[in-house]
Amino acid sequence: MFNTITAKIPMNPILKLISILLTTFCYLSLSSHSISAQEINLFSQNLNDLNEKPIDKMSDNILGNDIRLTLRSLAQKHNFFIGSAVNVKALRKDFLYRDRLSREFNIITAENAMKFKRLHPKPKSFDFSRTDYLMAFASANKMQVRGHTLVWHNALPDWLKEGDWTRDELIDILENHIKTVVGRYRGRIIAWDVVNEAVADDGTLRNSFWLERIGPEYIEMAFRWAYEADPNALLIYNDYGAEGLNRKSDAIYRLIKSLVANNVPIHGIGLQMHIQVDSPPNVQDVAKNMSRFTNLGLQVHITEMDVRIKKPSLVSDFQQQAKIYRDILRTCLLAEKCNTFVTWGFSDRYSWIPKHFKGWGDALLLNKNYQAKPAYYKLLKELADYQKQ
Ligand code: G3I
Repeated sequence: MFNTITAKIPMNPILKLISILLTTFCYLSLSSHSISAQEINLFSQNLNDLNEKPIDKMSDNILGNDIRLTLRSLAQKHNFFIGSAVNVKALRKDFLYRDRLSREFNIITAENAMKFKRLHPKPKSFDFSRTDYLMAFASANKMQVRGHTLVWHNALPDWLKEGDWTRDELIDILENHIKTVVGRYRGRIIAWDVVNEAVADDGTLRNSFWLERIGPEYIEMAFRWAYEADPNALLIYNDYGAEGLNRKSDAIYRLIKSLVANNVPIHGIGLQMHIQVDSPPNVQDVAKNMSRFTNLGLQVHITEMDVRIKKPSLVSDFQQQAKIYRDILRTCLLAEKCNTFVTWGFSDRYSWIPKHFKGWGDALLLNKNYQAKPAYYKLLKELADYQKQ
């Protein structure tokens, strides 16, 4: 990979320039190469050896041997979307971040930039600077974008939370917010997480700002307004802790079933998939959950996957983590209507986990130095094997 090649060259400026030009040339020529069945076989054989290697010996990795195989190139062959949430600050300033992101993924989600607080910081003004930047990056790199998220109890601006609004005023504010945001990117966002985390763990509707101030109708209203603003976008209900079969996923199922019965424009369910390495959801249950939503005519997206590990992380943790990622990707690939698998970031350098779960981390596919972890290789192999079917 880039850093491995350049690290071996002395820091003389002329040599450095030659190395950059050479590296860029190699990358551009190799990245346009299509993958043969023979290469995938060779690559899968190499993967089998990986289980035997300790994590810190993995820098001489398969990407180093064959830069052409990426999650994106393999997924693309099957019209599958493999994606990551994006930190716009990192996107602006970190070259390796941009490089790996555009090379490995064909769909992105804004981790925070499209939330109410960021987009609508004052009652009468919107700030699209971050999201326009993200959209331009996606378009330049031929990536799709998932919109996240229009209605959530979290990340609301103070002016909204603290205002003394009547119910009608709040309905107007929410309608205006949704129509302005969705309308601006009409035709350019493939799917919107319209309503996020509206159900509590006990299966009741979450006692949120929106429920308290508008009532349960806010859910249906949000989907209808999003549909008016972009009738071609996939409109998704997104939640966590409801991946398998439990009280919460049952409640979400009932909620969505009733929305469908009332002709509310809803097209899919997002299973976030924030997982702890020692307690993953049962994959058979995840498959059954997916299929009951599919039977309602809905698509299923994996929207925010990460698998956090209690520090210090052991080799066995990374192996278990890899297996969990692989199992979930496999379940999605085998499901009738799951064509999107998004992780919540891709490098541990920018993961939300250490800030929100003290003592936990290492949840993503690449480490802080952008080196691939076993989970990355397992996903690569899963996609490669899937190509063979
Ligand atoms: O950018 C500001 C910075 O200017 C400020 O100094 C600092 C002070 O705390 O805050 C920074 O913003 C933080 C932001 O992350 C960026 O790091 C917010 O406080 C913090 O609340 C925010 O956390 C995000 C969280 O959602 C709440 O919006 C996480 O990054 C983000 O990963 C997380 O994502 C959610 C999904 O949207 C929904 N599903 C669950 C998922 C994980 O919680």
